[in-house]
Amino acid sequence: MKRVIAIDGPAGSGKSTIARMIAERLGFDYLDTGAYYRAVGLKLRDAGFDGDALDEDISRVLESTVVDFDRSNKRFYLDGRDVTDAIRTKDAGRYSSIFSKKKSVRDFLLLIQRRFADNADLVAEGRDMGTVVFPNAWKKIFLTADVYCRASRRYEQFKEMGSTVTEADALTDLVVRDKLDEERQLAPLKKASDAFLLDTSKLSVDDTVAAILRFIDYR
Ligand code: DC
Repeated sequence: MKRVIAIDGPAGSGKSTIARMIAERLGFDYLDTGAYYRAVGLKLRDAGFDGDALDEDISRVLESTVVDFDRSNKRFYLDGRDVTDAIRTKDAGRYSSIFSKKKSVRDFLLLIQRRFADNADLVAEGRDMGTVVFPNAWKKIFLTADVYCRASRRYEQFKEMGSTVTEADALTDLVVRDKLDEERQLAPLKKASDAFLLDTSKLSVDDTVAAILRFIDYR
């Protein structure tokens, strides 16, 4: 396994933006694991499943499922279909949270995620990078932020995408997802004991990146 920088945190904590920038600065590959959970969420929703579905039934569907990221054009594909925009909707977020508690889903994505660190240094972001997927990561960071601040960031993202979601909707959605992510039995959102904790509520993106680069002692 190559060097892995594991970045975990709740929705809206700034993980994706920060992880992408750190990867760029260091020349590491970047892995957005939430995108994979979102794509699988869409697949299982379209297959007619809900949160009560059995793992064996889900596994049967996942056996023939292909989730792929094309580095050259930065697009996500689900069974050959471009889902880059579809996975960013509120609905995709909701279904990813519902199905991410399933063992069948976590097992399916675990191997896919680990493979990314076989040949390249990697910045991997998600909920369980430092605790489950890469417990021996080179560096671990846990980003957090006040829930109102996270909701306002999410709202701005939805607005940019042309969505009519209100700020109140974004807040309710986050509270529900935090609860699902933190309280699930398998790989819940949790800071690894050896992770560097950083609250980004009052930090700009540049300040956050600078703090992380200092932490990993990058020169
Ligand atoms: O980071 P995100 O909002 O795109 O993640 C979508 C959902 O996927 C999130 O609510 C929980 C799940 N997820 C997970 O369980 N484990 C990960 N490593 C990444 C995401």
